[in-house]
Amino acid sequence: MQVVTTDSTKLIDLIHDLCGIYLDESKQYLIDSRFGSLMKKYECNDYNQFVKMAQMARHTTIRDEIVDAITTNETLFFRDNSPYEALRHKILPNLIDQTLDGRRPKRLRIWSAACSTGQEPYSLAMTLRDVVPDVDSWDIEILGTDVSPSALEHAKAGIYTNLEISRGIDAEYQDRYFVRNTHDWEICKSIRKLVRFEKRNLLEAFLEQHYFDIIFCRNVAIYFEKKERDELFRRLADTLTREGVLVVGSAESLRDLADLYSCQIHCNSTLYYPE
Ligand SMILES: C[S@@+](CC[C@H](N)C(=O)[O-])C[C@H]1O[C@@H](n2cnc3c(N)ncnc32)[C@H](O)[C@@H]1O
Repeated sequence: MQVVTTDSTKLIDLIHDLCGIYLDESKQYLIDSRFGSLMKKYECNDYNQFVKMAQMARHTTIRDEIVDAITTNETLFFRDNSPYEALRHKILPNLIDQTLDGRRPKRLRIWSAACSTGQEPYSLAMTLRDVVPDVDSWDIEILGTDVSPSALEHAKAGIYTNLEISRGIDAEYQDRYFVRNTHDWEICKSIRKLVRFEKRNLLEAFLEQHYFDIIFCRNVAIYFEKKERDELFRRLADTLTREGVLVVGSAESLRDLADLYSCQIHCNSTLYYPE
């Protein structure tokens, strides 16, 4: 079935409502390429008809499919490496020291916000296993959230292909933290038990206040308009504990939000501390 109307304004608005991703008409090629097969599947001739169908209450599946179609789930284990070096050499040793001298309980709350298919929260868990002494005696929760249902399903399954493993996992880690399946590699139990996943839209209100010790929110705010991005980082500051730390993507900067965060550089990574 061919799309006869290329007016995608209503679809652009619906995408924005569903996940905050901002597209303008210059992204028409992206819309056409990402939505062609869904239009065929639902036998729609134009985007307006498709939007009407998606807005009907019973069509929650189409709305999920729209989010899956438009989100970019590119990720890899230990992406950019330097944030994990900062975690290993600065953030975790600081928190461990505070625990050893009794200033804080053996408790860690970490949020991988926009975790895609799970490589980020599992990389965090592997680093914790390496660095935190007697890690099983700690109360640890790594929360992975994403708005894309299919990405989350993949994350929860914790099963990765050879190609996915080859992107960031060396032979030693593969041996230590993965179990061989017939064709793939499965995250081992000791890592899996530290991580839990939930579907969450970062543009909706957060449940936690002053709760997380560490937040990784990387390579997602780039898809939002400036107003929404700033608002997101303002709300994230409120979910961090007083000594909590935020890590963003290597190409992202919060220098224009100096009233919210002060920054320090460690291991080539910028760490943001709420003011
Ligand atoms: C490029 S991936 C980044 C994954 C990971 N943080 C990393 O840096 O490797 C961006 C992720 O953001 C998610 N995303 C987009 N809009 C979102 C929203 N409004 N709320 C939560 N997640 C969102 C997408 O589904 C996608 O999985």
